[in-house]
Amino acid sequence: MKRIIIEKSPPLKGSVRVSGAKNSALPILAATLLSSGTCRLEDVPDLNDVKIISEVLEILGAKVEKIGKEEVEINASDIRAYEAPYELMNKMRASFLVMGPLLARLGRAKIAMPGGCAIGSRPIDLHLKGFKALGAEIIMEEGFVEAKADKLVGNEIYLDFPSVGATQNILMVASLAEGETILQNAAMEPEITDLANYINKMGGDIRGAGTSTIRIKGVNSLNGVNHQIIPDRIEAGTYMVGAAITKGDIMIENVLSNHIKPVIAKLNEIGAEVLEYENSIRVIGDRELKGVDIKTLPYPGFPTDMQSQFMTLLSVANGKSTVEETVFENRFMHVDELIKMGANIVTNDRKAIINGVNGLKGAKVKATDLRAGASLILAGLIADGVTEISDIYHIDRGYSNIEEKILNLGGKIYRRN
Ligand code: EPU
Repeated sequence: MKRIIIEKSPPLKGSVRVSGAKNSALPILAATLLSSGTCRLEDVPDLNDVKIISEVLEILGAKVEKIGKEEVEINASDIRAYEAPYELMNKMRASFLVMGPLLARLGRAKIAMPGGCAIGSRPIDLHLKGFKALGAEIIMEEGFVEAKADKLVGNEIYLDFPSVGATQNILMVASLAEGETILQNAAMEPEITDLANYINKMGGDIRGAGTSTIRIKGVNSLNGVNHQIIPDRIEAGTYMVGAAITKGDIMIENVLSNHIKPVIAKLNEIGAEVLEYENSIRVIGDRELKGVDIKTLPYPGFPTDMQSQFMTLLSVANGKSTVEETVFENRFMHVDELIKMGANIVTNDRKAIINGVNGLKGAKVKATDLRAGASLILAGLIADGVTEISDIYHIDRGYSNIEEKILNLGGKIYRRN
């Protein structure tokens, strides 16, 4: 089984370039199905999740051509299939994002039900509520969900929770529906704005993305365009924590500091120095680290995708910290692994209390999900001895060239096949 091995490393120093955002690339790749022209996407991260959604697009009849390492051209003029196969849906829950565009283009979409995943049950009720409000009939049977509509008509939709995926699926369907859709309590993540900008470039009419009320006027068709994916704020945040925890000094390039204000605020509070520039951020970790309280929330709150990395940092900060996870019901699986490495963490439901320890020790640990994997890499960099991480396919789903990037910063990390 493939593993990542990390030895106690010197402070990370130098610069690292952040890749395009996974969570922006996935919905935008799905949205290429809305257009009958050719779309060229730049800064598409070289990740397993991107490969999976590209395979889904190909199975549906789109032509997907990789131009360079991080550039892809897609033509979905000939899509005929409206059914995404179980094998691919099972590999990645985000494949569900093709449901909205398929329904919009073909009036029909049948998808194997994305099951629960490690971090929570992750239902899709809000996506379906949106499809229904626009006039689709929803049929659920034998592990499949199907949406059908002769005609999609805009409507007012209130989301009970600002779900990122539901907001994206609704933006995509409503863009080709008749009339106006008003989406209330929409997710406000930068990845929503990126998707809306992309659809607008194609000829769509979406206003208010990035706020909680989004107005979408449906258009008859969308054109092929070029688009550059925004930088990955979670990858950037992970390297920022890397600088703080190793007492290093890293210049993180290709990052929009506006997208990660809560991460910057918490790093400052913990004691790291954060300097913001136009498209880069420098983090210097030469001060004492202090415990803080963190609560994850939808954007612009503290991102759940940075929770585990901060948990590692707080494990070695002075004093007591608390972390509350409000977005997913089961996103503390890294805690047991961090405890194996010597952390002092106690959890009660969605709250964790962390009492800072002087140091961590290397151990054999398991990446239980993508961000949990990142938190263990960070732990391994400062732990005495050797840390061996298994189940690293999770890490490959979402971090582009992570070993190479950390090696370039002076970290001692390698992969054993
Ligand atoms: N939810 C519902 N009903 C729905 C949809 C969601 O109850 O119909 C609940 C979920 O169960 C969860 C909460 O709402 O408890 C948040 O889910 P959301 O739909 O906002 O998340 P997502 O679209 O499934 C995206 C990212 C996640 C990120 C979350 C929150 C992608 C591909 N994934 O997931 O990224 O954690 O938003 O910001 O964009 C990651 O990158 O490691 C990752 C898990």
